[in-house]
Amino acid sequence: MSRTIIVSNRLPTKVQRTEETLTFQPSEGGLATGLGSIYRQEGNVWVGWPGLFVNDTTEEQYVTEQLQADSMAPVFLTEAEIRDFYEGFSNSTLWPTFHYFTQFATYEQSHWEAYVAVNEKFCQAVLALAGPDDTIWVHDYQLLLLPEMLRRTRPEATIGFFLHIPFPSYELIRVLPWCNELLRGMLGADLIGFHTFGYMRHFLSAVSQVLGLAAQNGQIAVAQRAVRVDAFPMGIDYQRYAKAADSEAARQHEALYREVLRDTRVILSIDRLDYTKGIAQRLRAFELLLQRYPEWREQVSLIMLVVPSRDQVAQYAALKEEIDELVGRINAHFRTISWNPIHYFYRSLPLEELASLYRLAEVALVTPMRDGMNLVAKEFVASKADQKGVLILSERAGAARELSDALIINPTDINQLAEAMHDALVMPEEEQTQRMAAMQTLVKRYNVFSWTKLFLNQLTYTKMKQQTLATETLAPAPTSQLIGAYHAAEQRLLLLDYDGTLVPFHPNPQRAQPDQELLLLLRALTDIPQNRVVIISGRDRTTLEKWLGHLPVDFIAEHGVWLRAAGEEWSLFQALRNDWKRELRPVLELYVARTAGSFIEEKEYSLVWHYRRADEELGTVRSRELLNHLSFMTSNTDLQVLEGNKVLEIKNIGINKGTAAARWLSTYSPTFTLALGDDRTDEDTFRAMPPEAYTIRVGSAPHSSARFHVASPTDVRQLLRKLLP
Ligand code: UDP
Ligand code: G6P
Repeated sequence: MSRTIIVSNRLPTKVQRTEETLTFQPSEGGLATGLGSIYRQEGNVWVGWPGLFVNDTTEEQYVTEQLQADSMAPVFLTEAEIRDFYEGFSNSTLWPTFHYFTQFATYEQSHWEAYVAVNEKFCQAVLALAGPDDTIWVHDYQLLLLPEMLRRTRPEATIGFFLHIPFPSYELIRVLPWCNELLRGMLGADLIGFHTFGYMRHFLSAVSQVLGLAAQNGQIAVAQRAVRVDAFPMGIDYQRYAKAADSEAARQHEALYREVLRDTRVILSIDRLDYTKGIAQRLRAFELLLQRYPEWREQVSLIMLVVPSRDQVAQYAALKEEIDELVGRINAHFRTISWNPIHYFYRSLPLEELASLYRLAEVALVTPMRDGMNLVAKEFVASKADQKGVLILSERAGAARELSDALIINPTDINQLAEAMHDALVMPEEEQTQRMAAMQTLVKRYNVFSWTKLFLNQLTYTKMKQQTLATETLAPAPTSQLIGAYHAAEQRLLLLDYDGTLVPFHPNPQRAQPDQELLLLLRALTDIPQNRVVIISGRDRTTLEKWLGHLPVDFIAEHGVWLRAAGEEWSLFQALRNDWKRELRPVLELYVARTAGSFIEEKEYSLVWHYRRADEELGTVRSRELLNHLSFMTSNTDLQVLEGNKVLEIKNIGINKGTAAARWLSTYSPTFTLALGDDRTDEDTFRAMPPEAYTIRVGSAPHSSARFHVASPTDVRQLLRKLLP
């Protein structure tokens, strides 16, 4: 039976040491609480760190047994690893960088080395557990390298990756000296998920800018593998929170708090201790509320739960002091004998008590500076059975993309925040209900179960598509078959694309002329009487003739417009017009003016817009625009717009490399055919070939109609040399 192996740094259970014994408690944090409801299903296993340093093997064994009984497999970290991997690279380098707090980020080579080593440790732990049919689902920023490490040992494995924190702008990511490795690490997965479309967009642009890998329809070609990237906003186990809030235990706790608070109204704030959560700003805003609206004094209290987190990291310890100081100051200034402005708790609470706080509060203040998603906001919504209550939510939490019925604020704007609290306190009940009902519908529907299902289904689908559309590597066995078939044949047709196939791509197309080695190779191939060699290219005929015209090769130029058999004259594939160029050239010129680095190439019967020298992203955006523009202008004409490798080409309909190549097949009737090409225009050639033909796509392309692929022009030349006597 195939299982899902969940892998994250932190397990959903944390082990703690008391004086006498070890205790097992639920972990805090959105990842653990969110996935905690699903991992026990269908024999799944969760691999991760139990959260404390265990120094003797008896203890290790005890913890392992206890956790195993609850479907968990612990990975133990040494003290040095906790310091350098967990507190170091994960929480002092990646966490601040990904949350736009680069001023707090450190860049230590030794921390990086520990990060690599611990990812490797996780890799070994997963490999020891995972069978070939299991799905491996890796989570979060502590394990960015793991997907690629797993892929190296298990090239066929089904691997998903989900990032629970924001993915920042490419400008921040590229500050990291290890940025390439981190992105490559993530790309080891088959499916990469983010909470929002914005994070996904940032990731795609980082991959394109840093690694030069372009995405098409959310897919990135990594060697021969199509990696899919998508947004999956994470939800909560709605019923769990709704039930907890409705439980007897929660009601009893609430009654207890009410007794003390009497009729004081409650604003609630719940977070892990973290500078990303905007806790200090929130306190200042509450202070401002009391200054600006004295009528709320003795009427409203802020209940603030801060869960201890990462307290060995210097910035966290400093934040703790700042909060203590602020709370002390505000309370000292405003408190009365019978009223406490802020009830501040620094601890974590069990679910029922948490639920009682959600019940108690009229207003929830969720105001992070940055937050991947923020599940507290959703839990508050799920807990409000009577649909009364107001959520104040930061525009920079992932949750704000969905919960648009909250009062959305900018967390740095203390004025706005104080006003939002006031507005929430005076909001009519009817409006509260309207907003809450809308948010409940959404949180209920997009819950953690549908999130998991969506992600895993998408992963299965991605894998299936990879398998059906994959081309086979031209390994030694098919190579010798190819050579055998070649030697056995009397009439051989070799269809060779030029750019990207026989020579590597050059940013300036006029500089890609053939080198001596290639000329000798082509000469030797044409010297063999059984061979017919056709250069099948998108280039204009003049260039092809100038570069290769002295060889006895045939030509198909301009993607099939012009044809020439060796030693004969050029002829048109069919009678064509080119008067349309006058009308369309100004459109291309407009895009050249708007896209620095792009340029027009004019061929006799086609016009080409090249953007390989333009800024990668701008070029892609403009090519989309231009494609739309041209499709509109060429509808109901006999023109078509072809997309090639960083080019758009306008030409007559019905003429492509495939239709031209078919003519060679019918007039020459080869008994062996080899077709080589590297881009989308060569797919027409591949599709026109009989099934027994050897069709080979060059370079990375996850989907191709070719039967085989090779990596580069170097491999092409190597293969062609094998065809020489
Ligand atoms: N939480 C908890 N115990 C507490 C306080 C909070 O288990 O005493 C949980 C809370 O219910 C939520 C999670 O911790 O599920 C916090 O997740 P969130 O996405 O809001 O923030 P993160 O901590 O992941 O940054
Ligand atoms: C966030 C991260 C999680 C992490 C959690 C708690 O939710 O996305 O990966 O587990 O915070 O942090 P901790 O450092 O205690 O694991």
